[in-house]
Amino acid sequence: MTSDDNDATRRQPTEIEIRDLHKSFGATEVLRGIDLQVTPGEVVCVIGPSGSGKSTLLRCINLLEEPSRGRIVVAGTDITDPDVDIDAARRRIGMVFQQFNLFPHLTVSGNLVLPQRRVLGRDKRTADRVARENLRRVALTDKADAYPAQLSGGQQQRVAIARALAMDPRVMLFDEPTSALDPELVGDVLAVMRSLAADGMTMVVVTHEMSFAREVADRVVFMDEGRVVEQGPAAQVVGSPRHERTRDFLTRVLDPAASKL
Ligand SMILES: Nc1ncnc2c1ncn2[C@@H]1O[C@H](COP(=O)(O)OP(=O)(O)O)[C@@H](O)[C@H]1O
Ligand SMILES: [Mg+2]
Repeated sequence: MTSDDNDATRRQPTEIEIRDLHKSFGATEVLRGIDLQVTPGEVVCVIGPSGSGKSTLLRCINLLEEPSRGRIVVAGTDITDPDVDIDAARRRIGMVFQQFNLFPHLTVSGNLVLPQRRVLGRDKRTADRVARENLRRVALTDKADAYPAQLSGGQQQRVAIARALAMDPRVMLFDEPTSALDPELVGDVLAVMRSLAADGMTMVVVTHEMSFAREVADRVVFMDEGRVVEQGPAAQVVGSPRHERTRDFLTRVLDPAASKL
């Protein structure tokens, strides 16, 4: 497919549509022409070596980085249009980072209420109710009055997910959400993400959790050196990769000790 393809020729509705996305930092081209479509309710896992551009891709979708070239349409809005209302566009996109980025001086509840009031202008009652609903979704109702420092990393990450959900996003982006967690805390975060997927949330997840990708992803995208090398169902990309680079990467991720020999 070329970037000149007419949208009208494709019937499949897309929630995220990325065409020929390039991003350079100075002379370094980090994204070298990414084409990616995500349909409503689809869960796409993005895998690839460190430095391949995965975070930059997510950051472009959320306009935390300005693309150097190409087009990104989210929920029908061309967010690369210079006239777009960036704040409105960003509101449709929830983002969860490796580091949870909670406000340390606010309670869990306060972390969920503040952005709803500031960004969406919700009244206190509504914001409180939505906060409670979303804390229930991540099984942390009992921690509403705790401060982030009193929570485990896994609990903090679940608060960060609830905070993003409280903004009613159309899509959720996750950038290695479990990479900073102790191994025994990973499962609870993945369980929350699994239930979100089951609820029909459109998700793009950068992760090294291959068992999660196999079980939950509708599609796995392998990136290397700023390009999509291959993509397809998890069973295919993770189970029987076509490209040498994908095989090398998976060998290293699935058996880290092997790469040190
Ligand atoms: N703000 C930035 N300025 C300069 N270089 C950057 C910036 N952000 C990322 N890079 C570079 O872009 C490349 C891809 O980074 P990143 O998207 O974080 O990769 P990944 O998430 O796959 O590890 C890396 O070489 C990184 O050093
Ligand atoms: Mg990254």
